[in-house]
Amino acid sequence: MRLFVVLSLLSLIVYSEVLANGIGNRYFLEKQRFLLEILHHVHEPLTNQQWRSLGEHLVTDKEQYVVYNDHMTEFYKAFNLGILLNRNEYYNPLNADHYQQTLGLYHFFYNTRDWYTLWQNICWARIHLNPEIFVQALTQIILKREDYQALIMPKIYELWPETYHDEITVRKARNFNFANWIRYENTSDIEEVHPQKMEPSSLAGGLRNTLEWFQAMGDVNILRMNQQKRKNKLQHLLEDIGWQSYWYNLNMGISLTTEKSGQLQEWCYYQISQILARYKLERYGQKLSYKKLTPVRNIQKQNRRFKESSSKTTQIIMEYLKEFEERVSDAISFRSFQLSNGSYINLEEKDNWLIGLGELFPYDWTKLTIKEHMQHELLLDIRTSLRSEDFYYYAERVLQSYRWYRQVFQPPNQKMFIPSDLRIDDLQISPLVTYDQPVDVDLSNVLHARHFYLAGQFVWPFTLQQRQFRLQHKDFNYSLQVSSNKTQSTIFRIFLTTSEQGSILREPFYQLDSFLTVIYQGLNRITRKSKEFGGLIGDHISYTELHQFVKLAEREEYDFPLNISTSNCGFPRRLILPRGGSGNPLKIRLLIMATVYDFKARQGNELNCDFTKGISRWDELPLAYPFERILEDDNQAVEISGDHVYWKDVNILHENYQT
Ligand SMILES: *[C@@H]1O[C@H](CO)[C@@H](O)[C@H](O)[C@H]1NC(C)=O
Ligand SMILES: *[C@@H]1O[C@H](CO)[C@@H](O)[C@H](O)[C@H]1NC(C)=O
Ligand SMILES: *[C@@H]1O[C@H](CO)[C@@H](O)[C@H](O)[C@H]1NC(C)=O
Ligand SMILES: *[C@@H]1O[C@H](CO)[C@@H](O)[C@H](O)[C@H]1NC(C)=O
Ligand SMILES: *[C@@H]1O[C@H](CO)[C@@H](O)[C@H](O)[C@H]1NC(C)=O
Repeated sequence: MRLFVVLSLLSLIVYSEVLANGIGNRYFLEKQRFLLEILHHVHEPLTNQQWRSLGEHLVTDKEQYVVYNDHMTEFYKAFNLGILLNRNEYYNPLNADHYQQTLGLYHFFYNTRDWYTLWQNICWARIHLNPEIFVQALTQIILKREDYQALIMPKIYELWPETYHDEITVRKARNFNFANWIRYENTSDIEEVHPQKMEPSSLAGGLRNTLEWFQAMGDVNILRMNQQKRKNKLQHLLEDIGWQSYWYNLNMGISLTTEKSGQLQEWCYYQISQILARYKLERYGQKLSYKKLTPVRNIQKQNRRFKESSSKTTQIIMEYLKEFEERVSDAISFRSFQLSNGSYINLEEKDNWLIGLGELFPYDWTKLTIKEHMQHELLLDIRTSLRSEDFYYYAERVLQSYRWYRQVFQPPNQKMFIPSDLRIDDLQISPLVTYDQPVDVDLSNVLHARHFYLAGQFVWPFTLQQRQFRLQHKDFNYSLQVSSNKTQSTIFRIFLTTSEQGSILREPFYQLDSFLTVIYQGLNRITRKSKEFGGLIGDHISYTELHQFVKLAEREEYDFPLNISTSNCGFPRRLILPRGGSGNPLKIRLLIMATVYDFKARQGNELNCDFTKGISRWDELPLAYPFERILEDDNQAVEISGDHVYWKDVNILHENYQT
């Protein structure tokens, strides 16, 4: 309690200092620039002399902390014994010991009374600790301390480009010699972008190609290299940096959040079901089997630093899943469940099923710690888990148990939500078109650090961007025609699914949009634009541009907008549609469903990975409604048949990129 009050007071002061007019003032800019500099080349030893001398010692004076807890004591003891993870050792967030170390450092950041103490501790950690522990703890404090939430971390794929790019690209970037390149131009496939231009050229807030942009980027040479050819049918989704970092960010947000665990759990399972459905739609679009996923047999390492997953990992997870499924299945057969404190509850009594739900279904994966030492593997690293096809197989099994449990125990009062005197008569939708969009991805953090220091001063003379082609779709809109015999507030949910007409149990349903509106007596026409769909985010500016804008703002030549970056826990807007067909269009179906509004809409801040205000929702129906459980009558289920429901066949076309 005390901690909370003090921190809120602190945050009030700093907040009002920083957030006036949505423009970063000089205190903000100073912190922001420090953050970008300290994270620059974070995998290498710190070069900056100023930060090196500031970070000689960790602040150990207990007066400088709001609380000094056991995590900190243990951590400091371990540091003095020299048993913290070394700089070059492999860090695995799922390793119990590594997790404790991260937690210790996190408390040394989080509990600081003022910026100066934090500042010193950050410098200290940057110099003395394993860089991944450092980044993890720093990310957490920026997310969790209200007074620092306005600060912007570079995106995870810009901090560790080597994790997201193929080996050839990383090697070329690492060995790149700027001075030689200038002297003997055209000796490599790295070329200068002239005139200065980065893709996508238009960003929200008009951040690129404006007068200020050219001012900020004036001294920076923009260099570009091309991406290696893709080989696999799903790579355009699985290797998409936005797709992968979505999972990373939402796990970062959930980690160390203790409030509102019920809502958080529901939200996480909804996210997993969305990710799985979206993955399956891509498989469907690529004509791969999707109905029941199977574990992937050890794929050989493809030009990557990391293995897909080892047989040992597979074995551990399979055993874990088996136990988990047995627990759920026992709870269902016996209608009772033994809680972690030893007492039994009857799951059919009152709201006991919710207690069981909370205990049976884990959602904070960072807590699933493993004792064994593991190798770098795609699946076990939350930055890259979504690149491992095994992820989806496991996700499907976990979800299957979750939905079964809900089907059995969730009270069946949802029929009340089916509206009367309302009929969806029609849906019109503009053409759905996907295409490969060129984009430049910042590789600056893999370049050699020496390029960035001139006589001891930090400079940013050039940036290396990788030109990629990523999945994108054209904006679209749809309109609904709805007739009603009365005025009623109504919620609409729109799902994307395959065109298979068999059992819907086996089909993926990806929720595309949901909104609340008033339906009047008579005929109603409602139009929605894809740009209005919630929970989605667009593009952000690169690490290099962010740094240059901060510098420009420090010279008072630019009003630095605090919304300059994108929310981390939003899903990439450009990935909502599966890649269309190139010759024949991809056939899919839309399912539109109306439900009665119960005046229980709530607004959270989960888009910014902040769960303290709970989760946004339209009503008290489960977030994934009606697919949060296994629908009993399949095609005849009342939730998805009747006047309040409408099915529509549509096509998605893919246009090839033309230069
Ligand atoms: C470098 O190569 C490009 C394309 O190959 C060419 O257009 C350009 O003129 C060359 N520049 C120099 C300085 O030779
Ligand atoms: C930031 O907010 C302003 C004012 O609401 C808006 O005009 C601008 O587009 C936003 N910028 C971004 C990058 O979203
Ligand atoms: C165990 O937890 C349940 C639910 O939180 C509680 O009702 C019960 O009293 C607890 N039992 C013991 C023995 O502490
Ligand atoms: C409205 O009422 C009329 C007359 O009872 C009925 O025929 C019609 O189906 C109703 N419309 C809706 C949308 O329920
Ligand atoms: C989509 O928007 C365009 C332009 O506003 C409009 O002409 C068209 O009728 C809309 N289509 C649908 C299906 O709503």
